[in-house]
Amino acid sequence: MDRELHARLDDLQCDPYPHYTRARQTEGLTHLAELDAWLVARDADVREVLRRPEDFSSSPALRPDVLPAPAALAVLGGGFGGRPVVVTADGAQHQQLRAPIVRGLSPARVTAVLPYAAERAAALVDTFAKDGHVELMSAYARRLPGEVVGRIVGLDPADVPGVVHGGHRAEELLFRPLEEDEQIAAAEDVVAMQYTLDRYVLERHAQPREDLGTELIASVTEEADGGDLTLEHRHQLVAHLQNLFIAGHLTTTALIGTTVLHLLRHPDQWELLCAEPERIPAAIEEAARYDTALQGFRRVTTRPLVLAGTELPAGAPLFIAFGAANRDERRHARADTFDITRTPNRHLAFGFGVHSCPGSQLAREQLRLTLVELTTRLPGLRLAEDRPVTMRPTMIHRSPYALHLAW
Ligand code: HEM
Repeated sequence: MDRELHARLDDLQCDPYPHYTRARQTEGLTHLAELDAWLVARDADVREVLRRPEDFSSSPALRPDVLPAPAALAVLGGGFGGRPVVVTADGAQHQQLRAPIVRGLSPARVTAVLPYAAERAAALVDTFAKDGHVELMSAYARRLPGEVVGRIVGLDPADVPGVVHGGHRAEELLFRPLEEDEQIAAAEDVVAMQYTLDRYVLERHAQPREDLGTELIASVTEEADGGDLTLEHRHQLVAHLQNLFIAGHLTTTALIGTTVLHLLRHPDQWELLCAEPERIPAAIEEAARYDTALQGFRRVTTRPLVLAGTELPAGAPLFIAFGAANRDERRHARADTFDITRTPNRHLAFGFGVHSCPGSQLAREQLRLTLVELTTRLPGLRLAEDRPVTMRPTMIHRSPYALHLAW
């Protein structure tokens, strides 16, 4: 990718909304060179794609926006993974990979983790409640989701920070234009995370427990090999777990950040929420719609077809923009207005169809706990005036870099 295209990708990532508006208003689909894909931006078109997984394969869902340099790829070659994961699989393989995750994130499992999540949310707020100011992303939003997913998977809490860090680095490596030495450093952190996950797989295989990790290990090893754990299984399981962690914590971190940001940018709505906490669930849906954490994923056509009037050959790359669909006036009146009293709110922030998010309940519960903590304990919360907010830009996660708050 040349420098000019890098700069255009950066521009798109920093503020995709004007691009989305143009694409929704343009007949047919819009091709974006910076993503090397057709942008699917209207709510109806996004739903159409998600309804037809046999015509629109998920195989490139995680295709990097930037291909790492050979030296970084060589570092990654020394790690684990590189196997199909749920989000990039189609058909029967997808169902097989998804089933243990759906079981592991069942309503009962989510309910069981809530006391821990509530305790951690309160303990994290305790660390800064008396200070009068906080940088919320590092003190809270980048911590709670990793701890909660770690608990559900059954990871040792001491391993959680390294796994969370590795997830952020994997995203930077594959979705941000980085210089080569930064790419190599990021690849090293990703490989370190993979070794931690592999150690966990070995331990859990030897000593199964009631957790999502054990569920995944059983689903992979019992199928073909009667429970034995081969090197190939370890690669598959590390890929599975890495994907689950990244899907689970980066997204939730992003949504905690943008939810608090937009509530505080609209102080009247923050005050309403503090006065009427029964509005918290609706506020979460509106934040999820308005500044969608997972902006979009890729698909590819499996046969020649016509979408939104545009003729596409087999193999045409598409970017399915949940974030653009969620601002579509044809679905949401006053779509660019943040309004926690909005109803109905049928957004696509958690996807739709066979790949729809199996972790949405867990994510919503963490948002709920966060808003209960902040509205009851810090109702005077406001954005620190001297610290302008910049967004941490990629197309697969949208969140503030840092969120300086005061009260
Ligand atoms: C605010 C938080 C979250 C958001 C916005 C979000 C959003 C999404 C979206 C839009 C998809 C669909 C992707 C597609 O169509 O290709 C998805 C899939 C997925 N999500 Fe979430 N998610 C969140 C939290 C979580 C959590 C907490 C977990 C697990 C702990 C999780 C696990 C997954 C997995 C495994 C998939 C892939 C499912 C499949 O391909 O069948 N997500 N998520």
